[in-house]
Amino acid sequence: MPETYHRVVLAQDVPDRSLAGFVVNGWPVLIAREEGAFHALINRCTHQAASFTPDGRVRRGAVMCPLHGARFKLDNGECLGGAGYAPLLRFSVREVDGWIEVAVPDEAPGAEHLPVTPLS
Ligand code: FES
Repeated sequence: MPETYHRVVLAQDVPDRSLAGFVVNGWPVLIAREEGAFHALINRCTHQAASFTPDGRVRRGAVMCPLHGARFKLDNGECLGGAGYAPLLRFSVREVDGWIEVAVPDEAPGAEHLPVTPLS
């Protein structure tokens, strides 16, 4: 599927061990930074489609879902622990002139890629 890089955020605005959510060409994108490295993953948990932002956490190479606590590796999207949820979709990410750029598909995402807001 063709994809294009989009300029998303200044690198200095994503502190180490933090995450931030964006919508890029309609795609929900999670940008996480740990030990200086940037990662871009889909901002939709594969368990019950929760968004990782704003309450998710970045620790020890993984992002934790705020809804039920599933953890996914930043470098390959794999689910850690016994839960066995599907891996997170990852996007290519690069830093250019101090900006974080993320490559997302040129096609709009389907509903299966969009997060939902849990009922409270
Ligand atoms: S929705 Fe993420 S762990 Fe359940």
